[in-house]
Amino acid sequence: MKKILALLLVLCMTLSLAACGGKKEEPATTESVKETEEVTEEPAEESAEAKTIKVGVAIYKFDDNFMTVYREELQRYFEEDMSKDGVTYEVTVVDGKNDQAEQTNQIQNFIASGVDVIVANLVQSSAAASVINLCKDADIPVVFINREPTADDLALWDKVAYVGADARQSGTFQGEIINETPNKGDFNGDGKINYVMVVGDPENVDAKYRTEFSIKAVTDSGMQVEKLVEQRGDWDQAKGQEIVAQALTQYGKDVEVVFCNNDAMALGAYQAIEAAGRKVGEDIYLVGVDALDEAVAYVNEGKMTGTVLNDANGQSHKAAEVAALVVNGEAIEKNYTVDYVKVIKK
Ligand code: BGC
Repeated sequence: MKKILALLLVLCMTLSLAACGGKKEEPATTESVKETEEVTEEPAEESAEAKTIKVGVAIYKFDDNFMTVYREELQRYFEEDMSKDGVTYEVTVVDGKNDQAEQTNQIQNFIASGVDVIVANLVQSSAAASVINLCKDADIPVVFINREPTADDLALWDKVAYVGADARQSGTFQGEIINETPNKGDFNGDGKINYVMVVGDPENVDAKYRTEFSIKAVTDSGMQVEKLVEQRGDWDQAKGQEIVAQALTQYGKDVEVVFCNNDAMALGAYQAIEAAGRKVGEDIYLVGVDALDEAVAYVNEGKMTGTVLNDANGQSHKAAEVAALVVNGEAIEKNYTVDYVKVIKK
């Protein structure tokens, strides 16, 4: 019996040792091979001049028609067109959800994760100085897009730039589109244009300048104007629809021109115009900005009088190119401006 027990004990010990050995050895071998492979491969790639540039893109909110076209093209351009000759751009795009505190947090996370450059479409332009200071402390360059910081903010550091468009030009083009209509925007022939202005967001220079310069262009051409309504629509289609529906209920046929600071709100305005039984080109004019595909189709169908191309391709490409320059240690300018283009029926 003792012998059998002793035998069993020895057997058990051998088995458990074997099991142990098996457990230890197998994964250890595969792991270590993998590790060695990884360790030896990486430097080989680096020495072949492969370079990955990490880009953090912070968008003010994803739920914005124009910024959706813009951010998709920006990412595509970095990843497809700019990633070549051993350089790969790795792009992470985040949604600020229209909340500056959330966006500042996202920018801090980009900094902590060691991105090489940040592209920022701020929720509030007034946050520029604090964002620049965060980036400066970490020595991570920042390219602002779409929402323009002040010249004083841009002067805070030499690794900061703004890529955008001059909103005065877009406002002027909107006014000129009205000047170029057969009755210059005056359907009832009383010598003045009665208008509704649907404003994006009053803190934003695009909204300020479009509001101001569209009217300046018509008054510069000698027309009188009367503002019936000027209201904030937050760049949003549903709000554009509500504002114009309300204006048409209140002022009826008196409304001759609806100026919208962007196309999303103009698409909403069109819904209200149609619901009120009004006809663009026959008893009312409607203009927007951006040249979203849908708005351009509306212009060609006569549902909108015109729009202005806000060049998302041109701006996103320039932003990516400026980001590449600054990452490569080259000198950059403070401002890069892409032209707007008037869009009327073909
Ligand atoms: C565009 C708007 C957009 C806004 C966002 C403007 O330049 O025209 O459509 O909502 O930028 O900041």
